[in-house]
Amino acid sequence: MDKFVITGGKPLCGEVTIGGAKNAAVAIIPAVILADSPCRLENLPNISDVTIIVEILRQMGAVVKRVNKHTLDIDPTPIKTHVAEYDLVRNMRASYYLLGALLGKFSKARVSMPGGCDFGVRPIDQHLKGFEALGAEVSPIEKGMIDLKASELRGSSIYFDTVTVGATMNIMLAAVKATGLTIIENAAREPHVVDLANFLNTMGADVRGAGTDVIKIRGVESLRGVSYSIIPDQIEAGTYMAAVAGAGGDVLIKNIIPKHLESITAKLLEMGVDIEENDDSLRIVRTEPLHKCNIKTMPHPGFPTDMQPQIAAVLTVAKGTSIVNESVWENRFRYIEELRRMGVRASVDGRLAIFEGVEHLEGARVKAVDLRAGAAMIIAGIMAHGVTEIEDIKHIDRGYEDIIEKFRGIGAEISRSTSSPDSFAIAN
Ligand code: EPU
Repeated sequence: MDKFVITGGKPLCGEVTIGGAKNAAVAIIPAVILADSPCRLENLPNISDVTIIVEILRQMGAVVKRVNKHTLDIDPTPIKTHVAEYDLVRNMRASYYLLGALLGKFSKARVSMPGGCDFGVRPIDQHLKGFEALGAEVSPIEKGMIDLKASELRGSSIYFDTVTVGATMNIMLAAVKATGLTIIENAAREPHVVDLANFLNTMGADVRGAGTDVIKIRGVESLRGVSYSIIPDQIEAGTYMAAVAGAGGDVLIKNIIPKHLESITAKLLEMGVDIEENDDSLRIVRTEPLHKCNIKTMPHPGFPTDMQPQIAAVLTVAKGTSIVNESVWENRFRYIEELRRMGVRASVDGRLAIFEGVEHLEGARVKAVDLRAGAAMIIAGIMAHGVTEIEDIKHIDRGYEDIIEKFRGIGAEISRSTSSPDSFAIAN
């Protein structure tokens, strides 16, 4: 039972380098299945979600060689199965990308229903609607398995009823080798949607319009293996920005694409933080008290839901009342119960959370209820007076590479400690 132990209350200072984007990597790795020769993927984040999806491909037959910490060579040509069983995929929400990739490759796919962070119902009806439009027959879900079969995948027009990252990318995967033209309307515009399109196009696909709400995909006969470098992680960068805003200090955040961070930058400026943008880095300085601010999460280019808990942790000490409106997920405020242990004054009403800024937070024993909630607990711990212990940190390891080392590098007092459940009982 690992936990993080943080002694908070000190400003952050120095430089931190951002890694490759988790949510791009977990789609691009399955996309390799579509290639007729090996691929080299660079700038992959070294996180457990990537390890899991790579292991799934390996168990399906792919030959994977590690070139260095952030580069893998993946030969998908030995993969002969279109099936991914529950034991393989249960720990990973993003394993749903195997549906699109296997369908695109073999015209059939059988994949167990995904796991992942729990913030309410996570339907995949729009994915299935898209696969059906391409000519796939979706069999009733049995024992948690989804079964797709098509005699031939044909391009089609698909309008999503809601803006969904997962379904947009999954339909791209299934459509790149379909016959004819596929048009996705009301598509998601996240940076990782564009990154997947760029990867597929480098392999020889014809995907246009990614980054807008209409994506057109003209099917091609075959895709070849290529070398490709994943974009920097927008949410990892935003997490360090939020930490500096919360704790105060002066930090240079390197290896980023400032355009991807615009909505986060805009809100931090509103809160009184100074931000200086360079080509591929930004400097963030916070010396004055924070102003209150209202946030509404939206699909890109709106404020990302995956930054909602981290920014909320910062708002807990902003003078006045701040309102956070979570419009993407129905239940992404479970972490607030944990923040209350640290002296936070907050109430939740459906999709709204209301924060009354307090003078300072007090260290406490808390849990990471999911990945981004865990990041918010680290930020709160760094901001707080005294010692904070964070349990259930496996969620954080899913999505943040070397988080302890990176926070230590900018002056945070944080360590990982391993103890048995019994020693917890004695300590309490
Ligand atoms: N939705 C539907 N039907 C569908 C698909 C989605 O109603 O078929 C709804 C969802 O219930 C949700 C909204 O549409 O209310 C958006 O869901 P989306 O499909 O965009 O989410 P996702 O693809 O499952 C990805 C990220 C999440 C991130 C969301 C929103 C990955 C692996 N996950 O999930 O990231 O919150 O997009 O941006 O890319 C994280 O990294 O911490 C994380 C949870």
